[in-house]
Amino acid sequence: MLPPLEDTLTVNVPLLDLVAQYRAIKDEVLPALQAVIESQQFVMGPPVGQLEAAVAGLSHAAHGIACASGTDALLLPLRALQLEPGDEVITSPFTFFATAGAIHNAGGVPVFAEIDPDTFNVAPAAVEAVVTPRTRALVPVHLYGQMAELERLTATAGRHGLRIVEDAAQAIGARRRIGGAWRMARARTSVLGATAA
Ligand SMILES: Cc1ncc(COP(=O)(O)O)c(C=O)c1O
Repeated sequence: MLPPLEDTLTVNVPLLDLVAQYRAIKDEVLPALQAVIESQQFVMGPPVGQLEAAVAGLSHAAHGIACASGTDALLLPLRALQLEPGDEVITSPFTFFATAGAIHNAGGVPVFAEIDPDTFNVAPAAVEAVVTPRTRALVPVHLYGQMAELERLTATAGRHGLRIVEDAAQAIGARRRIGGAWRMARARTSVLGATAA
């Protein structure tokens, strides 16, 4: 039997606690923020282009496009897919809520595929099992800096003509060896392995 509520120890666990991480980079962050404030160029100033070039270089991507948030960075490529009502997008149930939220806000129906208990990333066999004629895209999430099995997901996408939008919010700079070459995590849309946006 459960103990009465008043005897239960309550521990508040914050949704996100980045204080320790911030402390480690504080000496770089503060002068950079101060320089922006001094310049009074808050929108599309030089640091935006510098960030875009740096992230594109790090991710081996043709372009880096700065967005207001990771949620927007998911929403924009998903909107570019021009999903129709009833179109399904397969993703992981074990992720930040923005992943499924962005699929919904782009007009799609999120369909969850089971995760691999060893990596916590979406299991490719489970993805293949939930593909239907309404499936338009896959959104693998590279969780905790560890990339999902893109090689198998790309094969599934190729077989069914699906787009892939990677949720790399937790994995900028992460990489995975695929076919003898390093493949960087990057939020992009692709079909049959070719970069489309
Ligand atoms: C996997 C994942 N996707 C998307 C997001 C959304 O990013 P943002 O909070 O910047 O909108 C997060 C944020 O933690 C995330 O962890």
